[in-house]
Amino acid sequence: MEKKVTLSTIKADVGGLVGHSSIHPDLCKEAENRLETAKKQEKILDYYVTACGDDLELIMTHRKGPDNTEIHQMAWDIFWACAETAKKLKLYGAGQDLLTDAFSNTIRGMGPGLAEMEFEERKSEPIIVFMADKTSAGAWNLPLYKAFADPFNTAGLVISPSLHEGFKFQVHDVKGHKRIFFDAPEEIYDLLVFIGAPSQYMVKSVYTKNGEIAAATSTERLALTAGKYVGKDDPVYIVRCQGDFPAVGELLEPFTRAQLVEGWMRGSHTGPLMPVAVKDANPSRFDGPPRVTALGFQIADGQLIGPRDMFDDPSFDVARQECNRLADHMRRHGPFEPHRLPMEEMEYTTMPQVMERLESRWEDLN
Ligand code: F6R
Ligand code: MG
Ligand code: MG
Repeated sequence: MEKKVTLSTIKADVGGLVGHSSIHPDLCKEAENRLETAKKQEKILDYYVTACGDDLELIMTHRKGPDNTEIHQMAWDIFWACAETAKKLKLYGAGQDLLTDAFSNTIRGMGPGLAEMEFEERKSEPIIVFMADKTSAGAWNLPLYKAFADPFNTAGLVISPSLHEGFKFQVHDVKGHKRIFFDAPEEIYDLLVFIGAPSQYMVKSVYTKNGEIAAATSTERLALTAGKYVGKDDPVYIVRCQGDFPAVGELLEPFTRAQLVEGWMRGSHTGPLMPVAVKDANPSRFDGPPRVTALGFQIADGQLIGPRDMFDDPSFDVARQECNRLADHMRRHGPFEPHRLPMEEMEYTTMPQVMERLESRWEDLN
């Protein structure tokens, strides 16, 4: 048996029930049927289908490596088939994230979001797949920083010899199409200069100092890809746990504090990212507040053992309450900043169309 396994999570919004709040079970069934066939044909090793809000999430293991055309094409075809089901049911925004109809080599830049990593399976390989709805790709910067660079979050950075050396962060400038690597803890102040601005700079991946992949995220910004507002990015983040990596609990701990993120109603508002069980990942209030779910698996010879619904735990109740309180507070601002996003980010929403209409009425001041 080949040694390396690839974990791919590819997601898209292909239609919502009702509005943008959740997904119809038929979409998950359609995806499951197709992935079951792919598994029987030995294209993939295993799969798990789930949803976070209106996003359909395909979690897959295979031996083909990241950025594999066959895997991407398969995911693309599944999303199209599910979009067809969504169209028949007249679900809302059917096919919303599928920005083109012609597939060529990669699903990157075509609308769906993806996080992939290839590694040699350890004696025991615990992983977590984090999925978010009603927010943007930069939402992972803070939790990644806390888990991999903050000893107040991750005890292992101090206590465990295998984590004590720290980690390496790959950061993407999604507007400038550039990347940079930072070592933590040596360069954490430099790292924070950039990742503290999560609408432009996003942690793409994290490695051990020996070059082992630890975490990977989706950094696709839908508005930048489509050239207009087509919904928020609703990103995913996959991570290996335990041993040379933070423990499961150290990776979950960053989500115990209500983090304010971009997204929520019309992708135009700042709101708290609420950690919830999969059954509660149906953002309804003011189309939100933004949600994050976490499914844990043990990978065994490429098989996904699990999942465990990691936020289905009363110890996240206080975080959820804090999110609800913050949601109330932010909502009181109505159309005012900082609830509404700063003008620079509103560029990627539908508001410029309204502003354009008023353009001619502005008079110069003498
Ligand atoms: C945010 C989101 C929703 C929609 C809103 C308006 O990411 O998906 O808040 O932006 O429901 O939707 P449309 O423009 O489709 O009527
Ligand atoms: Mg939608
Ligand atoms: Mg969504």
